[in-house]
Amino acid sequence: MGNRFRIAINTGGGDAPGLNAVIYAVTLAAYERGWEVHGILSGYAGLFDTTKIIQLTPERVAGIVPHGGTILGTTNKGDPFRRPYEKPDGTVGFRDESDKMVDTFRRLGLDVMVAVGGDGSLSLAHRLSEKGMPVMGVPKTIDNDLAVTQATFGFDTAVSTATECIDKLHTTAQAHERIMVVEVMGRNAGWIALHSGIASSADVILIPEIPFDMEKVCDRIMENEVRGKRHGIVVVAEGAVPKGGAVVTKPNEDVGREAVMLGGIAEQVARGIHQRTGKETRSLVLGHLQRGGSPTTWDRLLSLRFGAAAVRFIAEGKRNVMVAFQAPHMVPVPLTEVIGRTKTVPTDSETIVTSRELGISFGD
Ligand code: F6P
Repeated sequence: MGNRFRIAINTGGGDAPGLNAVIYAVTLAAYERGWEVHGILSGYAGLFDTTKIIQLTPERVAGIVPHGGTILGTTNKGDPFRRPYEKPDGTVGFRDESDKMVDTFRRLGLDVMVAVGGDGSLSLAHRLSEKGMPVMGVPKTIDNDLAVTQATFGFDTAVSTATECIDKLHTTAQAHERIMVVEVMGRNAGWIALHSGIASSADVILIPEIPFDMEKVCDRIMENEVRGKRHGIVVVAEGAVPKGGAVVTKPNEDVGREAVMLGGIAEQVARGIHQRTGKETRSLVLGHLQRGGSPTTWDRLLSLRFGAAAVRFIAEGKRNVMVAFQAPHMVPVPLTEVIGRTKTVPTDSETIVTSRELGISFGD
């Protein structure tokens, strides 16, 4: 009989379909080994307020795999190194409360924190590991932009949702002979735009990795007319940039939120198309629809494998690593190899080549 660990799990940062499946797998795989699992609510908040810690048991997690969101809740304002507080004059200040948090973790007799997150949450996990909190990372993000792992859970579901939505746009675009410009998520990586765009037969796909030229975008739109098609679909990643231009951002009004909020490029592109071609053009932003709903079968399987591997690696004595999917295996990789390195779309990738062969323009 090996060690009987007390492990904790938290889900910080933006949610992604499959989080509950990871929680389920971690709980079951730990239970099979006779360990205890504690769920930390709202990111790391439970380590500041211990009423926000719940014991996870097979009964507690039964039936959660098909559900989107996370039973533990999450936040992207939970940085323990920069906690907001109200100053005596009523303004908001920030202070480092990470030591307090690591102390609570130790006082509760917890052995390892399973941190399920994207780049931001895994960076926090890494900094906490340097302060003495043993960590096991699990890669989560619909953006698919984490280095070293070939896949993150949530991406497949987001792409499926986006594809389904774009499919629906074709019919209304055709009926009105309009150009529809649809903005999808992905931050500074074009994975969601590329995969949903090719799957839904878009005419133009604009991704951050290939700065676009509005004239080229419009040339492709007008080529449709020659082909006898009077409508068109443009899929644009929220982080796409025009040549010589900059990403479009929204004002960030969330106290304690670090990441820049992207959004608004579809509207700009739509205006540019209308001005240059005279064609009736509409834009829409799919937004958080892409993060919601039940995970696809692929995402469930990936999440369950990530969760079980996290527990397996803890049992093997691995710490301060992230579980990476390197097909067909799950492997532990040091957190230092993951954080701060965005996995973007290689511009010579097979999927880009395929898109071009199908007549899809990248506006370049
Ligand atoms: O990282 C996941 C993601 O959905 C990005 O694609 C998007 O830019 C961001 O999170 C949105 O964050 P929020 O939910 O805080 O608006």
